[in-house]
Amino acid sequence: MIPIKNREGIAKMRETCAIAATVLHKLKKLVLPGVTTQDLEEAGRKYIADLGATSACFGYRHGSRRYPAHTCISVNEEVVHGIPSLRKVLREGDIVSLDIVVFYNGYIGDNAYTMPVGSVAPAVEKLLRVSKEALDLGIKQARVGNRIGDISYAIQTHCEASGLSVVREMVGHGVGVAMHEPPEIANFGRRGSGEKIKPGMTLAIEPMVNLGGFKTKTLADGWTHVTSDGLPSAHFEHTVLTSDTGPEILTIPSL
Ligand code: MF3
Ligand code: CO
Repeated sequence: MIPIKNREGIAKMRETCAIAATVLHKLKKLVLPGVTTQDLEEAGRKYIADLGATSACFGYRHGSRRYPAHTCISVNEEVVHGIPSLRKVLREGDIVSLDIVVFYNGYIGDNAYTMPVGSVAPAVEKLLRVSKEALDLGIKQARVGNRIGDISYAIQTHCEASGLSVVREMVGHGVGVAMHEPPEIANFGRRGSGEKIKPGMTLAIEPMVNLGGFKTKTLADGWTHVTSDGLPSAHFEHTVLTSDTGPEILTIPSL
């Protein structure tokens, strides 16, 4: 069953998601050649604390491991869950995904954005553009009466029509009192499949899109997912509220 948020839950999700989006918005401005992913981590940790929230990533458990940072910063062939490091220096032509998940007042907001570092190769520019369009198209399908698979289908077909591939091993998800709630929202699938969308669902829709093949592997750190062929990958994510008046993006900065 997909959790349905009541008025109060929705009001709290709005606040938390605005914080997550504000942190992401501020971090985007710091992406420049010469900056390390650890610099972004430290800034992100401070922005989250300044807004009175905490990171939902720090200490997040997967098996016996705990995620060691407050942000996920994934560069080039890193798909998601890159661990910030002083040794990772951004260079002109890189792309960097910033994934920010915060906890505030009992609720979680999740969003991500992939930025170019300076100017990037045309094929990589296209990867970013098409992946972002796929997120927008997926969000448009998050309409009451549609099914979860309609979101998946829209994302997959848009990416594949441009010769890109969608990651299979990781998926979007419901989000609310927990970071990962039902349903799973795959970035591939059949139109009309899955659960029906009802008002009051809060969904983290997050295409992970590869320039090459769809296969990924996990590094020895137990967290970082990279493309198997070493080609770049993009990741865009919003937390979206479903309602009778249509999908509403909750992860909008409050500035
Ligand atoms: N947006 C990521 C997700 O939904 C955040 C994960 S936090 C981590 O999986 F701790 F797992 F890294
Ligand atoms: Co997510």
